Amino acid sequence: MRDARIGGDGPDGDRQGWWRDAVIYEIYIRSFADSDGNGVGDITGIRSRLGYLRDLGVDAIWVTPWYPSPMADGGYDVADYRDIDPQFGTIADAEALIGDAHRHGLRVLIDLVPNHTSHRHRWFQEALASPPGSPQRARYVFRTGLGPGGERPPNDWTSVFGGPAWTRLPGEDQWYLHLFAPEQPDLNWENPRVHREFASILRFWLDRGVDGLRVDVANALVKDQDFPDVAEELDVLEPTKLIDHPHWDREGVHEIYRSWRRLADEYPGERIFVAEAWVPTPYRLARYVRPGELHSAFNFDLLRCSWDAERMRTIIDDNLEAMDEVGAPPTWVLSNHDVARHLTRYGRPHTAVFGPRTELVGPVDLELGLRRARAAALLMLALPGGAYVYQGEELGLWEVEDLPDELLQDPAFRRSDGTARGRDGCRVPIPWSGDSQPFGFGPSGTRPWLPQPPEWKDLTVEAQLGDPASILELYHSALRIRRELPAFGEGGLKWLDGPPGALLFERDPTVLCAVNISAEPFRLPEHAEVLLASAQFPGNQLPPNIAVWLRRTA
Ligand code: GLC
Repeated sequence: MRDARIGGDGPDGDRQGWWRDAVIYEIYIRSFADSDGNGVGDITGIRSRLGYLRDLGVDAIWVTPWYPSPMADGGYDVADYRDIDPQFGTIADAEALIGDAHRHGLRVLIDLVPNHTSHRHRWFQEALASPPGSPQRARYVFRTGLGPGGERPPNDWTSVFGGPAWTRLPGEDQWYLHLFAPEQPDLNWENPRVHREFASILRFWLDRGVDGLRVDVANALVKDQDFPDVAEELDVLEPTKLIDHPHWDREGVHEIYRSWRRLADEYPGERIFVAEAWVPTPYRLARYVRPGELHSAFNFDLLRCSWDAERMRTIIDDNLEAMDEVGAPPTWVLSNHDVARHLTRYGRPHTAVFGPRTELVGPVDLELGLRRARAAALLMLALPGGAYVYQGEELGLWEVEDLPDELLQDPAFRRSDGTARGRDGCRVPIPWSGDSQPFGFGPSGTRPWLPQPPEWKDLTVEAQLGDPASILELYHSALRIRRELPAFGEGGLKWLDGPPGALLFERDPTVLCAVNISAEPFRLPEHAEVLLASAQFPGNQLPPNIAVWLRRTA
């Protein structure tokens, strides 16, 4: 059995490689828990819910950006990497959270955004106030525009959120690069000053005891210095043709991560990096977690996949193989704050479209989505390696698709002229308790920054705790069993024969996982005991859209 105690005083307190099979819970801070009633979540709110997370049975939390920010992209536009936004708290609150989390046996990862700063960052303000060619401008990516007077952008690169990736400075022929919103100017990683700054930022937080950092768009930092045209519009979330792309997944990023790894390795207790890198194949992803580079990387393949057994099996095999080649554990993700929640994706026939440009087409069957989401949880948690749980998936929250336009905050909505709804629908604040908004998200009377569906009264933590039929109790049981049984976590798997649409594998000769992704029931292999099922069913035939964990005698 694994011991989650941290700090070196438990038998397993500084467990080597703790992250290799960790379940890490993503906290989208704006929407988790609001202690002061301003409608936005905060650090004190997180502190008040650590008991919930400990009881849920996750190993660590990852908190999305909490730095001072004008919130042009929900905090992924950082104005000061060494402070906390007042709406989230203070540095003292952050330190208290880290200490409290450790006492609860939870490790803490924070979010590092190295590709771009906010336009309000002191550096960018200084760059704007300084002449072309100055050292202040050299911290960002400024280029002269094309055509007479430089009135056209330097090349055809487009922003992930829509529109050109360049913005012109008023009265100048100079343009600056922003792969995301104009309020997120890209840093120039050709400049050693930028490297030194981020090494210092890393130390700032590692000195404060964080156990790791998630690296935002880790595949974007280095750009082809010839700045060639891309010629075709690419969606970072559907990256099929990104190899040798002028700004995604370039070779140069790896040198940066080797230096960060050396820095983190100076600290006691295994501080880790998790790469967010939208790359086309598991083999490209594996390059981020080679020996001497980052520890872990989100594998988004399941999150991009429809409810399709054959495709899922290929994804699982390819990821196991690719990670095995570099000696890193695979990871699994079903949802995060950038994509439509998987319950809703699975409630539609074709579910592979998502992200800032999600087109949510056709009616959704939430009941079917929930059934599949429950099965998917057992699939994900039975797979080798680490897993990421996005806040609310354990409650069976769905994508809120009918938020009023005027409340949408994702820059993707505005920059696509409303053709993309954006990512707000997966960011609606968590329902904790009670029968009406704010459902315990904040003190009574709080108006959450996005409205919560009234139907969520049945999905609150309070409503689900202790109800054996609830998805929350399913996650509890799954995480407990995963912790207790040595077969789970890191290691391999062996596929067993089954009918089409069956995912059937053993983690060791005594522990089996079966998922029915077909439309027909199938007969379960012989077993001594059902350890856990995503839904009740009679007899030995596993009905569609259900997963089970079975125990056999060896
Ligand atoms: C990452 C974040 C996303 C953000 C983008 C720009 O993809 O997950 O939320 O908009 O980076 O920082």
